[in-house]
Amino acid sequence: MATTMTASFPAIRLRRTRAAAWSRRLHAETVLTPADLIWPLFVTVGQGVEEPIASLPGVSRWSLDRLVERGREAAALGIPCVALFPNTPPGLRTDDGREALNPDNLMCRAVRALKDAVPDLGILTDVALDPYTSHGHDGLVDAAGYVLNDATAAVLVGQALVQAEAGADIVAPSDMMDGRIGQIRGALEAGGHHNVQIMAYAAKYASAFYGPFRDAVGSRGLLKGDKKTYQMDAANAEEALREVALDLAEGADSVMVKPGLPYLDIVRRVRDAFRVPTFAYQVSGEYAMIEAAVAAGAGERDALVLETLMAFKRAGCAGVLTYHAPLAARLLGA
Ligand code: PBG
Repeated sequence: MATTMTASFPAIRLRRTRAAAWSRRLHAETVLTPADLIWPLFVTVGQGVEEPIASLPGVSRWSLDRLVERGREAAALGIPCVALFPNTPPGLRTDDGREALNPDNLMCRAVRALKDAVPDLGILTDVALDPYTSHGHDGLVDAAGYVLNDATAAVLVGQALVQAEAGADIVAPSDMMDGRIGQIRGALEAGGHHNVQIMAYAAKYASAFYGPFRDAVGSRGLLKGDKKTYQMDAANAEEALREVALDLAEGADSVMVKPGLPYLDIVRRVRDAFRVPTFAYQVSGEYAMIEAAVAAGAGERDALVLETLMAFKRAGCAGVLTYHAPLAARLLGA
């Protein structure tokens, strides 16, 4: 680009267009609006319950009645979609995570309550077994603790179906089993759920940034070992493109990169290579880092939040899952 330019300083002064606020707005290459946000919400049992999560300051688990209030808040703020994660009561967690298949489990009840109260709000559900297993893994484990691929995928298909039947608009498999997107797509089609979307957590890395989330869904203390045999290695980018290609070929409507900011290179490469709706998850540890920076006086929350979210858009994201969604939507003047 620079090589074809004939003019140079002082004919060209890039600061000219930055000199006034109106001009900066006029020249902005990237736009961030509340419509770019997906708000992850944690659900718990009970009535009138708000349980703050210590490692995620400002984020709580909500009982269904309070969740519905959050849904109305999201709609009023112009946030198009919420993502639900259940904190399954400990007594319902088993080795095989069978509560995930219960059509009346906390997740399905939450979907129904939200759809009933706020029908125009999009609902994304998480497909993975970690909130339901006694060992905290996303799938079924064998005697050696290895997470079994094909047996897990079969359960995930059933889980996605009960969620779709409850009214989920987007099912989002976050488990990283091979082949599950195609199997879920097939089951959704066979079940008449032609318009239920699949957002594949296609490039999900085994990350140190998920700690507060595991507190929120109650799996941190239960988790045996790590998730490195199924989630991706932080060293790999070419492999992320293979993951995305496979999930798209199997019928994913959109793909996700996770975590967010440390993996913006992956977002850009996926977007450039495939030109499909690409989302990123600014995960719990990223949220917590921003809050810690604010608490330490190292930065100003509103500016940090808007700058990071703009960075996702600039990198090519169609949208971002972020716990800061309601704050960002407010700042963006919904
Ligand atoms: C698990 C799941 C995780 C997150 C979303 N789904 C954690 C994990 O893989 O251990 C993390 C989200 C966050 O940290 O905000 N299926």
